[in-house]
Amino acid sequence: MIEILSPTEVARGRVTGALVGEILQTVRARSVPGTNLLEIDAWTKAMIAGAGAESCYVDYEPSFGRGPFGHHICTSVNDAVLHGLPHDYTLADGDVLTLDLAVLKSGVAADAAITFVVGSSGQPVGRALIEATERALEAGIAAAGPGARIGDLSHAIGSVLAGAGYPVNTQFGGHGIGSTMHQDPHVSNTGRPGRGFTLRPGLLLALEPWVMADTDELVTDADGWTLRSATGCLTAHTEHTIAITEDGAEILTLPGGAR
Ligand code: MF3
Ligand code: CO
Repeated sequence: MIEILSPTEVARGRVTGALVGEILQTVRARSVPGTNLLEIDAWTKAMIAGAGAESCYVDYEPSFGRGPFGHHICTSVNDAVLHGLPHDYTLADGDVLTLDLAVLKSGVAADAAITFVVGSSGQPVGRALIEATERALEAGIAAAGPGARIGDLSHAIGSVLAGAGYPVNTQFGGHGIGSTMHQDPHVSNTGRPGRGFTLRPGLLLALEPWVMADTDELVTDADGWTLRSATGCLTAHTEHTIAITEDGAEILTLPGGAR
């Protein structure tokens, strides 16, 4: 189902989005060498509750995972790229950490992810991956607006990732979002312009380019959730929730509020 939100609902989405952006930046600032992934989960749980919001993850039981996720944030380290299940792991200098967070507040969900290098290590490979996903996300957002087609966004995202030299996996991508986290339409990270659903004001989309340095093949951890690169190479993932407006697209998941 594709949901089109009313202006009041979009306004609620701005509040949820700002909360997601703020939690991610707070966790980022606190994630240093020596931080445990379970601490990150606990901080996130407390911030969600403190804001009167709800986790979209705790009870989530999709076909691509095993049982309810049971945690409040995805923490994917190095070769882990998507759905990283928080576990007893202490971050080291130079770890490439992806935080992915979705919450529901006042009936509207927002979903965002950031990847960054923990500590002060140079980590050129990790930084190049991060930069490619951030540029791909910007290109996807720039292609969005009323009248644009989903394929236009997919093409914009995929062109940046492929142009940076990374293989693009099509098993997981972006998605519609609204009263629940995962909705139609699917937004593949590669595609052909002029195809697919035509965007209109009130549609919320989560765009989420992700890449693995030298493969497009994923493997699932023994935990049944965490998805890693099949070769063990580094990875990155960046995501924002955007709202289609009358004159373009607005990013909802920025820490200071929508733009
Ligand atoms: N927020 C993720 C996405 O970007 C989905 C995480 S599902 C979870 O679509 F259950 F693993 F948390
Ligand atoms: Co998402």
